[in-house]
Amino acid sequence: MPSLNSSAEKQEYLDALFTGEERFPLLNGGMGIDFTDETFVAEMARQRRIGVFAFSAPGYRVLENDLSHMTPQQRVQTLRASNQCAIAQKTQHVRDQHEHAIVGANVMKILEDYPATIEDIIASKRIDILFVGAGLPRDLLKRMAQDDAKHMRYVPIISSAGIAELFEKLADRGKGKRPDAYYVELPQFAGGHLGVLKGQDPNDTDTFDPVRIREELQGIAPGRPVILAGGIAYRDQVQAAFDEGYQGAAMGTRLLLTQESGLSDGISRDMYLDPSRDVCVDAHSPTGYMARRLDVACTERTAESVRQAIRNCVSCVKARDCEFCKNASATNGELQQPEDPHYCIARDLTSTRLGIAKICFTGSQIVTIRHDPLYESDGERYVPTLAEALEYALNHDAPQGAQGLQVR
Ligand SMILES: Cc1cc2nc3c(=O)[nH]c(=O)nc-3n(C[C@H](O)[C@H](O)[C@H](O)COP(=O)(O)O)c2cc1C
Repeated sequence: MPSLNSSAEKQEYLDALFTGEERFPLLNGGMGIDFTDETFVAEMARQRRIGVFAFSAPGYRVLENDLSHMTPQQRVQTLRASNQCAIAQKTQHVRDQHEHAIVGANVMKILEDYPATIEDIIASKRIDILFVGAGLPRDLLKRMAQDDAKHMRYVPIISSAGIAELFEKLADRGKGKRPDAYYVELPQFAGGHLGVLKGQDPNDTDTFDPVRIREELQGIAPGRPVILAGGIAYRDQVQAAFDEGYQGAAMGTRLLLTQESGLSDGISRDMYLDPSRDVCVDAHSPTGYMARRLDVACTERTAESVRQAIRNCVSCVKARDCEFCKNASATNGELQQPEDPHYCIARDLTSTRLGIAKICFTGSQIVTIRHDPLYESDGERYVPTLAEALEYALNHDAPQGAQGLQVR
């Protein structure tokens, strides 16, 4: 990305990106809770890449406290206030250092706080690109068409062209602004929540064929740029995305394993870089989406831990959608079906962010990339800086048999 020294230069460059005149510089996928935080995004900007905040529950730190004395409504309000404060502080932190960098924010629609989070992001005036996934944000097209949101580009996160078709039809019917671009995340490779609901097969490579999806999007949203994510961690995989007609490539897991991300170096070393840790996809997330994670049995489910989670519930996922809460008895907070495997995502993902590993979301390609020499120094496991990870990823091709985007 060129060095951008004024608002005018930035606008001109953004226009070139969104008209397809220029390819996107490498982006990171937003990784919540707070793994792509202000330190990480500022470093992406310093490296002249597009840094994307994870703004799903950015005020998660309230969960370090015992909230069980509060009413359910007070707990929701506490998270709301904390999210608002976090968005203001984190965006200011990056803008203080990189006034004209291109900065994105990622939000999950399924969250209770999603509408207010969107308003905070718009009001901050410090975010250039808004990525929204995990749900169909139909109303957002209208909101993004309003004057106070026009400074932002809107990019839905999708896994198939069908959703894009729906957005385009809504725009045809005058129901808001067309998305400025699309972000295609391939469920067969991506980390965390996948664009498939319980019962669907994330490894259905016919449905999630990046070549076909790109062709279909060309028909549905001609000329609109499309960014590809999922299974991209090497130079030739980035090139494969461009060769298949995408205008941008994003990396998740590769950039998670860096000193600047919100994941502790200890968890990177002991969990992600440990070759004995497998990867699994299951339907245990309370959101109803399938999710990919390290196969580690860290999600304790004692009667007491479940009770604590219920009593501290901040309704992070909308109550009617939360599979963990649905199973809790309203009277005593015990699980109605004790063997139910759903976890409390607010507690367990936050715990990992705070340095105690529970849910460890990862892309499929961790089993390949953890063997790269990048992760070893003086015979010990090593967590690289973001600059080192970018340098490695953009100058090395995927090894034979890599578990990521196939290079044709
Ligand atoms: C720890 C972790 C957390 C993630 N959190 C989010 C999130 O909050 N919102 C989202 O849209 N995608 C999320 N993702 C998906 C990434 O943004 C990215 O699109 C995906 O991981 C790309 O695949 P890769 O990891 O193979 O590069 C997450 C991924 C990981 C590994």
